[in-house]
Formats: sequence, C-alpha cells, structure tokens
Amino acid sequence: TGRVCHFKLVLLGDTAVGKSCLVVRFVRDEFFEFQEPTIGAAFLTQSVNLENATVKFEIWDTAGQERYRSLAPMYYRGAAAAIVVYDITNKESFNGAKSWVKELQRRGDPNVVIALAGNKADLHTKRRVEYEEAQKYAEENCILHMETSAKNATNVKDLFREIGEVMYVI
Ligand code: GTP
Ligand code: MG
Repeated sequence: TGRVCHFKLVLLGDTAVGKSCLVVRFVRDEFFEFQEPTIGAAFLTQSVNLENATVKFEIWDTAGQERYRSLAPMYYRGAAAAIVVYDITNKESFNGAKSWVKELQRRGDPNVVIALAGNKADLHTKRRVEYEEAQKYAEENCILHMETSAKNATNVKDLFREIGEVMYVI
C-alpha cells in the first residue's frame, strides 16, 4: 500500500514495567511470564499498514534498570517517536515515566512524538494509577496516552498504529 516510511522508535521507562513484553507482543504476538530484564538495549523491527502507507518501526527497547540509565540518550537521540511505559499497579513507575517525558521534551528531538503507555491493564484489581490522572497529565503535556496489556494484547497494536498515523501525518 503506497509508500513505506521508516521511523526510529524508542521505549523508555522503569524496569519491569513491561517494555520488552510490549515489543514482543507487537513484533511476534507472544508473551512470556518470565521475560528477562533487558541488558543494554534490544533492536527489533515491525511494520503497520495504514490506509495509504506502510510504517516500518525500527524499535529500540531500552533497559530500565538504574545502572543503564546513562545509556538512554544514545537510544532516544534521533528517535522520531518514544513510548514511555509505566505499570498501572506501580505509582513509582508513573513518577518515573513523568521524568522520562520531561527528559525527552528537553533533550529529545524537538518533533519527537511521545506516547505514554499504562501497561499491565489486565491487573485492574491492583491498580494504583487512575486512568484519569494519567490522561490529564498526557493532555497537559500534549502527548498520546493509552492503557495496554502485553499479557492479553489489549491496545498493543492500536498503540503503534496510532503513533504511526500521527507520524505519517507529520
Ligand atoms: P527492563 O528490561 O528491566 O527495563 O524491564 P521491562 O520494562 O522490559 O519489563 P519486561 O517486559 O521484562 O516485563 C517484566 C515482567 O512484567 C514480565 O516478566 C511479565 O511477567 C510482566 N508483564 C509485562 N507486561 C505485562 C502485562 O501487560 N500484564 C501483566 N500481568 N504482566 C506483565
Ligand atoms: Mg526489557
């Protein structure tokens, strides 16, 4: 379908929020209960077909553990899009996500498209971050926001598709 656009996309967020699981769900449609913590970063690609174009994402899945924090700028530099992930059952990870958004807005590409993903939406009985709170934050900061579940696949394709649509328009 029409032209093919290549976009560099980076995932950022605290350790264990589910960045790798989201990518594995998107790229291979699989989920592992015991996904290993990422070391350094992982690179994967996947495409989404839009009405008039194909968007090919070149995805950098970064490591959230503190010891890797200083590597992050290497991965978000030049990224056209960023997915900042938090875990809806972990308030601290939402604070971490906000600091990633701030850092991206200060030091990332001036036109970077940022999406905030509240992952583990399947664990709604353990929820600690209200949807409305995150949505309000996203609106105030002009970024996308969606709750996802890598485990049951809720909103995972939609998240990448929505980013692709925004980038294609830009
Ligand atoms: P780092 O690589 O250390 O930064 O962590 P990460 O953000 O990549 O987390 P990872 O994808 O490794 O996920 C950590 C664990 O969270 C996984 O082993 C899963 O058990 C769990 N997990 C991830 N996504 C979901 C989800 O949507 N729902 C539930 N219930 N668990 C999830
Ligand atoms: Mg990981």
